[in-house]
Amino acid sequence: MAESMKGLKRTCRCGELSAANVGENVTVMGWVQKQRNKGGIIFVDLRDRAGILQVIFEESECGAESFAKAERLRSEFVVAVTGKVERRQGAVNEGLATGEVEVRAEQIRILSEAETPPFPIEADSKTKEELRLKYRYLDLRRPDLQKNLILRSKIAANIRSFMESEGFLEIETPILQKSTPEGARDYLVPSRVHPGTFYALPQSPQLFKQLLMCSGYDRYFQIAKCFRDEDLRADRQPEFTQVDLEMSFVDVDDVIDVTERMVARVCREAIGIDVQLPIRRMTWTEAMNRFGSDKPDTRFGMELVDVSETVRGCGFGVFTSALENGGSVRGINVKGQAGMPRKKIDALVEFAKGYGAKGLAYLSVQEDGTYKSSFAKFMTQEELDGLAGAMEAEPGDLLLFAADSLKNVWAVLGALRCELAKQLGLIDNDRFDFLWVTEFPLLEWSEEENRFTAMHHPFTMPMEEDLPMLETDPGRVRAKAYDIVLNGVELGGGSVRIFQDDIQEKMFEVLGFTKEQAWERFGFLLNAFRYGVPPHAGLAIGMDRFVMLLTKAESIREVIAFPKVKDASCLMTNAPDVVDDAQLAELHLQITGE
Ligand code: AMO
Ligand code: AMP
Repeated sequence: MAESMKGLKRTCRCGELSAANVGENVTVMGWVQKQRNKGGIIFVDLRDRAGILQVIFEESECGAESFAKAERLRSEFVVAVTGKVERRQGAVNEGLATGEVEVRAEQIRILSEAETPPFPIEADSKTKEELRLKYRYLDLRRPDLQKNLILRSKIAANIRSFMESEGFLEIETPILQKSTPEGARDYLVPSRVHPGTFYALPQSPQLFKQLLMCSGYDRYFQIAKCFRDEDLRADRQPEFTQVDLEMSFVDVDDVIDVTERMVARVCREAIGIDVQLPIRRMTWTEAMNRFGSDKPDTRFGMELVDVSETVRGCGFGVFTSALENGGSVRGINVKGQAGMPRKKIDALVEFAKGYGAKGLAYLSVQEDGTYKSSFAKFMTQEELDGLAGAMEAEPGDLLLFAADSLKNVWAVLGALRCELAKQLGLIDNDRFDFLWVTEFPLLEWSEEENRFTAMHHPFTMPMEEDLPMLETDPGRVRAKAYDIVLNGVELGGGSVRIFQDDIQEKMFEVLGFTKEQAWERFGFLLNAFRYGVPPHAGLAIGMDRFVMLLTKAESIREVIAFPKVKDASCLMTNAPDVVDDAQLAELHLQITGE
């Protein structure tokens, strides 16, 4: 039978006690981590979110009734213990914050009994993630998850206080919105009142924050829930959180300045690291050419080298035909890996194919200066020497080459360099390398849709000097768009917005919207712009990714209390699930097919 708390008040958390509290009478409440019965004396490790405390029961001090209760304790029972804080009689436990003290129990109440949990509640759990997610409420008792969520809360608090001090207003925007698909797929919510119509859950507060600028709230921010029905990866969830902001009367530098000071403040307050400001900036073109990625991991080198000119006209058909088709040949130098076994190289080729490569050519420079290579037989000695020279290869180096369209070469080598750095242990995990990537292309050609799509979104401002090309050569127009990257992960992104209707009209035209289509979708925004719109710009940071990187968690699931798995389901609640026919009827819905 569970006892009540009546007359008892918790005085502190278990994990908060230290040598400074010796001599105090305390009442602590928490979960039994472990009970050890040594005959006349019982040791209980009591756990709460602050940590673990050792409690000692001796019949002479706590009386027969409490001692009998202590004998009954099993893992995860919830108890209240009153007693005195003492210095540890036994060895000090350096591993525990409370390691110098223990509480000598005078009284215990069993507030709740517990069945044996399906897995042990401990740090660094070896339990399979599926089981942990099914019993997420137990998983969340584990100290590593508690540490992550406590840090997440601290980060949110720091963001709020920083934004407040900078004059930003926190304003909520609607969750039930109009569907304006452009980007990811929308989650839809059927309307009961208006048969056959749907709300969409926000992919981001983008349009509403721009409207707030029109309404004069010149600095807005929100820690906002966003929803995107896209394929999940380790750093993606169907619902996630953005630190979203928008500012009026500003340009690129203003947004970058506020954002990086916010990020620096969070890093200092939350994990005690100093971010050197200003954060380094790199144009998109430089990032792609050097790292093959618009979110480069700059903690290691192995940069891409363009050898197109070196191999032009050589005897290796793979290279020359790629060049003839307007493509590129580029390579990376994997220092000191000439001895990599063939099997491992083959695995790299397979890895590259996963990123769209047709193959991967290699050239390893032996200690005696000779080459081992998949294509040496097609090239003269001079050509090989020239290629090795262009790659600044030394004896012992392994050179890997991709020949394809430039887009594919970037994708393949960009991914390969990160994979190799991981495999070869080249990454310093204690480093936090922030980087701004700027001057993104405005548009991206979509082979599927046979039209340009907006790389960021249709309201992104082209760079002034590129404006004339919007009509003549839209693919080359650069945008006033920027991403903040941390350790090779896109942490956030934003842009200066278009606020002139002639530019916006041209943009819609390039994107292949008719005027009617544009107004049908975005009319409320375009209309608002007719009544006085300030120049404005903004950005959103992926909160989950930010916390993941600062906690060094393996996935964003480790920093979200109740995450979803790969197929976007919740293993604990079984969502999504079927609903009653009555519910469907009310929503004017019918399930067809399977
Ligand atoms: P964007 O689409 O780049 O910009 O999103 C901003 C940041 O949100 C995070 N993010 C995600 N995190 C977890 N799971 C996801 N599925 C997911 N998708 C995005 C990323 C990303 O950098 N409205 C614009 C911002 C603006 O222009 O102001 C926007 O949403 O960290
Ligand atoms: P093949 O002549 O197709 O046997 O290819 C010879 C070598 O070139 C092999 O090592 C292939 O992996 C490699 N290779 C094939 N296509 C490409 C490509 N597009 N880029 C780089 N290497 C390639």
